[in-house]
Amino acid sequence: MKILVVGPGGREHAIVRACLRDPAVEAVEAAPGNAGIARDVPCHSIDASNGTEVAALAVERGFDLVVIGPEAPLAAGVADAVRTAGVPVFGPSRAASQLEASKAFAKEIMAAAGVPTAEAVHANDAAVAAAALDRFGPPYVVKDDGLAAGKGVVVTEDRHTALAHAQSCFDAGGSVVIEEFLDGPEVSLFVLSDGQNLVALSPAQDFKRIHDGDAGPNTGGMGAYTPLDWLSDYRESVGGAPADFTGVVLEKVARPTVTEMARRGTPFVGVLYCGLAVTSRGVRVVEFNVRFGDPETQAVLERLETGLGGLMLQAATGELDEQTPLQWREGYAVDVVLAAENYPETPRKGDLITGIEDAEALEGVSVLHAGTSTDDAGALRTAGGRVLAVVGTGQSLAAARDRAYAGVAKISWPGVQHRTDIAAKAIAAEITVETQA
Ligand code: AMP
Ligand code: GLY
Repeated sequence: MKILVVGPGGREHAIVRACLRDPAVEAVEAAPGNAGIARDVPCHSIDASNGTEVAALAVERGFDLVVIGPEAPLAAGVADAVRTAGVPVFGPSRAASQLEASKAFAKEIMAAAGVPTAEAVHANDAAVAAAALDRFGPPYVVKDDGLAAGKGVVVTEDRHTALAHAQSCFDAGGSVVIEEFLDGPEVSLFVLSDGQNLVALSPAQDFKRIHDGDAGPNTGGMGAYTPLDWLSDYRESVGGAPADFTGVVLEKVARPTVTEMARRGTPFVGVLYCGLAVTSRGVRVVEFNVRFGDPETQAVLERLETGLGGLMLQAATGELDEQTPLQWREGYAVDVVLAAENYPETPRKGDLITGIEDAEALEGVSVLHAGTSTDDAGALRTAGGRVLAVVGTGQSLAAARDRAYAGVAKISWPGVQHRTDIAAKAIAAEITVETQA
C-alpha cells in the first residue's frame, strides 16, 4: 500500500512514522510535510488546502490511500475532491467536518443524537451573550463558533473578559457559543469510523494552556500522555449495565453521533476526536474535532502495534468491522511540546535549533517535528509556534516522562518554551474521578 499523508505538523510526522512501521505499507509520502518529515519520506510542496492539487497528486503518483491530517483542508473539502477522483481517503467530507468547523453545528448534532454535553446558547449579539453568561454564571465559557486552532475559547471568572471575547468575535463577523462550565479532568479519545463501524484508540490527556499549572492562554496543546491509569476503574451505566470509560464514550458519544451523521446523508469517515470532561455527573463532550489531536497523537501512536496504514484503509473503504482488537505496546508514552518564543501570540521564526540528534540518541526518546524548516546551509530553524514534540516511552508513566524530559534538556534555541508539568499530576495520583455505576 502507498500512502500520502497531507499536512505540515507534528501530528502528521507521527502518522508518517506509524505508517512506516506498518508492514502492510510499501511507501509513504507527504504533502507538504516539514523539515523533519522530509528526513523520513519524500515530500511534495503543494497547497494542502487545495483539493484539486491534492487529488491530482494522489492520482498521478498512484496512492492507494490519502490521509488528511489537519482540520483546515478537511473543512475546505479536500477529502471530497480526492474521493471524487476515485482514491480512498481517511478524513471526513466538508459536510461532516462541520462537527469541528462549527461549534454550533456540533451542539445541534449532539442535541439530535442525545449526546451528553454542556448546555449551550448560540449568540449573535452582545445582548444574547450577556443573558447567556448570567444564566450559566461563572466560570464563564465563551467559544468562537469557527475554526480557531484551539485558541478561540476563553474560560474566565471575569464577566467583562467573557463579554469582550464575545464582542471581538462579533466584530470579526462571527458568532459565539456560550456554555455551562464542566468540572472534572479532560480526556481525548480518538475513535476511527468508516461511517458506521467504530474502533477506539487508547485515551490520552492533553495540556492546553501555555504555562505550568494550567496558567496562561490556551494553545493547540503543550504535551500529552497515555494511557490514563486513573480511568481504569471508571464505570458508568450504559443501557443499565456498567461500562468502562471507552465503552461509555463509544456508546453514549461516538455511536449516536456517527449514526446521526449517516442519517443526514453526511457519513463521518476518519477519526472522530472526542474531547471529554469526566464530571461529577458523568462523561460530557467538551468538543469534537474531525482529525487526530496534536500533540496527543504523538503519544498515542507511539504505543500502537496494529498497523496504522491498514486500519486507516479499512476506515476509508467501509471495512472497519473486519478489524480485530488493537494491539498496544506495553507501558506508557509522554510527549512534551517545545514551542517558539512568544507562542501562542506571535511566535518568532527563524531561530537555530540544536541538540535533536543528542536527544534522539537517548534510549526511549524520539523527536517529532511540527514547525521546522531547513535553511540554505542545511541547518534546522524554527518555523512555527509549536516546533517539536519530544516523545518518551517507558514501562511506567514516570519512566516515560523522565525520558521525554531528558530529551527536552538536550534541545535548545533562543526563547524556547515548554511546560515542566506534563503528566506530573497523574504520576502523583492527584487526578480522581467519581465512578457513576
Ligand atoms: P475547545 O476548543 O472547545 O476544546 O475548548 C478548549 C478548551 O477550553 C478545552 O480543552 C477546555 O479546557 C476548555 N473548555 C471548553 N469548554 C469548556 C467547558 N464547557 N467547561 C470547562 N472548560 C471548557
Ligand atoms: N490537542 C488539541 C487538538 O488537537 O485540538
